[in-house]
Amino acid sequence: MKTNLIIAIDGYSSCGKSTLAKALAARLQLIYVDSGAMYRGITWYFLENKIPVPLADELDVLNYDYSEILQPVEIAFQINRASGRSEIVLNGQNIENQIRNLEVSKWVSHVSAIKEVREKLVTIQQGLGKKGGIVMDGRDIGTTVFPHADFKIFMTAEVGIRAKRRFQELKEKGVNTSYNEILKNITERDYEDTNRKVSPLRKAKDAIELNNTHLDENEQLEFVLKKLEQKNLIETRHLTK
Ligand code: DC
Repeated sequence: MKTNLIIAIDGYSSCGKSTLAKALAARLQLIYVDSGAMYRGITWYFLENKIPVPLADELDVLNYDYSEILQPVEIAFQINRASGRSEIVLNGQNIENQIRNLEVSKWVSHVSAIKEVREKLVTIQQGLGKKGGIVMDGRDIGTTVFPHADFKIFMTAEVGIRAKRRFQELKEKGVNTSYNEILKNITERDYEDTNRKVSPLRKAKDAIELNNTHLDENEQLEFVLKKLEQKNLIETRHLTK
C-alpha cells in the first residue's frame, strides 16, 4: 500500500460519507477524521456561549471579531476505549453526544460559512494529515484541505433516500424527530453548503463520483477499494477481509 496515503471524501449531507470513511480506515488501517464533527463542535460552542450566528446575508454586515471569539477554542479527538470510536473533545470536554442533535444541525451550515471558523479548522485538519495515513470526510477536503490527496471521492444520493436513512439512524438512537424535519434540514444544509462564499461544497476535478442511492455499505466499500487497487494505491489482498 502507498505509504502516507491521503483519502478525501466529500459530498452532500447524510450521504453516508462517515460510514464509508470509517470502513475504509478500518480495512486499510488508516486514521479516520470526521471534519464535520469539528464544525459541529464549534457550533455547539457558539450555542452554549450564546455567540450570535450570522445568516448568509448578514455575514458581511455583522462586525464580530470571530478570530478573538475562536482564540480560546481547542479541538482534539480521543478514542473511546469501549467502542473504539474517535470522539470530539472541545476545551477538554468530550462533546460527542451533544453535537448530533437537531439544534446543532440547524445552525452548523451558518457557522461553517464564517471565514475565521474555516481558517481555524482547515489548519487543524491539515496538521492532522501532515504525516498521511488518513481518511477525512467533509465538504472541502479534496478541494481545500488536501487538494493533493492521493484519492478523492465525491458522494451523492437521492435526497429522499438520504433523509430516510438518517431518520432511521436517529430513530434507532432514540432521537425524537420526523422524516419531514430531517428532509428539510438536509435540503437547507445542501443549499447553504453549496452556496457559501468560502470553500463551498464542490466536486474536485479529479474526484471519483459515487452515487450510493442503490448501493449498500458493503457495495460502496467494494467500489472504492477496487478503484484504489486500479490506481495501485492498495494491494489486491486489501480487497478481501
Ligand atoms: O458531515 P456533517 O453533516 O456532520 O457536517 C455538518 C456541517 O458541517 C455541514 O452541513 C457543513 C459543515 N462542514 C463543512 O462546511 N466543511 C466540512 N469539511 C465538513 C462539514
